[in-house]
Amino acid sequence: MAVSRRRMLAWITGTGLVGSGVLSAISNFVFIKPRATYGQPQRFSIGKPDDYPAGTRIALDARRICVVREGNRIAAVSTTCTHLGCIVGLADTGFACPCHGSRFDSDGTVTGGPAPRPLPWYKITLAPNGEIEVDKDTEITPGSYLTL
Ligand code: FES
Repeated sequence: MAVSRRRMLAWITGTGLVGSGVLSAISNFVFIKPRATYGQPQRFSIGKPDDYPAGTRIALDARRICVVREGNRIAAVSTTCTHLGCIVGLADTGFACPCHGSRFDSDGTVTGGPAPRPLPWYKITLAPNGEIEVDKDTEITPGSYLTL
């Protein structure tokens, strides 16, 4: 049986429309989700407790935290100044901001300068693999240590 020219054109057009619809759906799945990431993850590992000996305060500037270890207790204090966001440095009495002179005691309480709030403390947990995980999305009451 011969296929008419009209029927052949209708089949080609229909196949083209269906094909373009399928390609469009696939491209939506591939490209609709943005692949960009914005900043560092707020939950991350900082290694094993033994990396932080008792009696130390170790600043991790790339993570903007200071890991405080007292005996078998450990905590993570923010080192982002609550004034305009500079990284505070360690000082004998706590923390000092190099930008406008804010000072904080070792618990992060403001002791001088323009900083309007204390330095936040972040929740930390021990992961099943024994590493310390910091969750910068969850602030905790200053002075709340994780007991190891
Ligand atoms: S940013 Fe720290 S005192 Fe201004």
